[in-house]
Amino acid sequence: MQMDPRTILPPYRIKVVEPIPFLSAEERQRALAEAGYNPFNLRADQITIDLLSDSGTGATSAAQEAAAALGDESYAGARSWFRFRDEVVDLTGYPHILPVHQGRAGERILFTSLLKPGQICISNTHFDTTHANVELAGAEPRDLPCPEAADLDSVEPFKGNIDLDALERTLTGPEGHRVGLVLMTITNNGLGAQPVSMANLEAVRELCRRHHVPFFLDAARFAENAWLVSQRESAYSDWTPRQIATRAFQLADGCLVSLKKDGLSAIGGFIGLRDDDLHAVCEANLIASEGFSTYGGLAGHDLERLAQGIREVVDPAYLRARAASTARLARLINDAGVATVQPAGIHGLYLNAARLLPHLSPRDFPGHSLGCQLYLDGGIRCAEVGSLYLGTVDDQHQLVTPAPFELVRLAIPRRVYTDTHLEYVAAVLADIAKDPERVRGYRIVSAPRLLRPFKVILEPVTATEGAAATDA
Ligand code: F0G
Repeated sequence: MQMDPRTILPPYRIKVVEPIPFLSAEERQRALAEAGYNPFNLRADQITIDLLSDSGTGATSAAQEAAAALGDESYAGARSWFRFRDEVVDLTGYPHILPVHQGRAGERILFTSLLKPGQICISNTHFDTTHANVELAGAEPRDLPCPEAADLDSVEPFKGNIDLDALERTLTGPEGHRVGLVLMTITNNGLGAQPVSMANLEAVRELCRRHHVPFFLDAARFAENAWLVSQRESAYSDWTPRQIATRAFQLADGCLVSLKKDGLSAIGGFIGLRDDDLHAVCEANLIASEGFSTYGGLAGHDLERLAQGIREVVDPAYLRARAASTARLARLINDAGVATVQPAGIHGLYLNAARLLPHLSPRDFPGHSLGCQLYLDGGIRCAEVGSLYLGTVDDQHQLVTPAPFELVRLAIPRRVYTDTHLEYVAAVLADIAKDPERVRGYRIVSAPRLLRPFKVILEPVTATEGAAATDA
């Protein structure tokens, strides 16, 4: 056989499809201008390949849809709830499971029940809604990523880890008594989709035990982290992804899980808990704000799809093929001269826009510029993770503090795009890389104070303005 030995066949074939739109270059230009140059304002029917998020965007299986037909919509105690709960208890080992409609609902319920105002929540990296919900609970989110994460090119296997020395210093230092929670995000979405090792989780558990601080997982991508552990951490090379995921849950006192990712469904999530008292407080909070504790804002058919999805997602053949597909895209992109955060993760690739577009300064928002160019040239939608998202701006919307990196995330929905679709993405990027100077910068026209990336309006900087700014 002449196949690339790195090609892995996905363990499924496609049964139901939907058309994708192809707009002309002029139509895309008009659509992006009408969207205020903010991809969040584009309509889905203006997009050819949508890599904005891997959340709730996956394809379901025939088995999931068959299960959904059995959805029991009884208000309380539905059969679908028990099927879901049994699957989650089997996977996680937690005695208490509270269903929620998506991850951030679980964040709000847990943090307002557990954290006291003035406390600190420490993480390898908080996801943005997690960060916001810690603050809304009156506490302070603090990220302590491992030092290796700062080198985008290093191929260290576990750049998602927390900095254990910094964690210990905080716990034993003058602020130690203020630490109310340690939350490990697996995989580390905020830092290049990098995995967390089991050794790191074990060390975090020991530190938390010693200092009597609750240790939780934000396990939105529990199966993908488990796969990368099985491939990169020798002590776990004989373990199945499911065994590794279960072991990770066992190490912690509880978890938050958005099931819109590794639940292989459009909606859903849960909180897992060991502590009876904390469960009672969270349950009251859940009933008041999400729904009764046997549905938590989800329909019976959602619970059925999720129960089946949780089984399918830990299939080694599925995880191997998905990881290989992302790695293949990374190779194509890197071969075209575009750097990505190394090593490749699974749910997303992070393009190094600053390196590709050295003619743009952070105040031109190079990550955003590259994202817009991918749409203008190829109808591809993706998300900036750079100064537009993470930097601070003044009242005139001028950038004051840039982000440490200017990245663009290509998030890969699960079971949705074939390698041919991804080859197209690499080809569009390769064309940009041949003539990067044509990519123009952008400036902010208006921006809300809160949650800027979602509602910001921008405009392109004209070629003459750009040149004048560079001369100055
Ligand atoms: N935690 C992590 C690590 C996440 O990536 C997300 C969502 C959440 C929590 C919140 O979950 O969306 O179900 O409320 N991440 C999506 C993304 C939105 O595109 O990365 P949710």
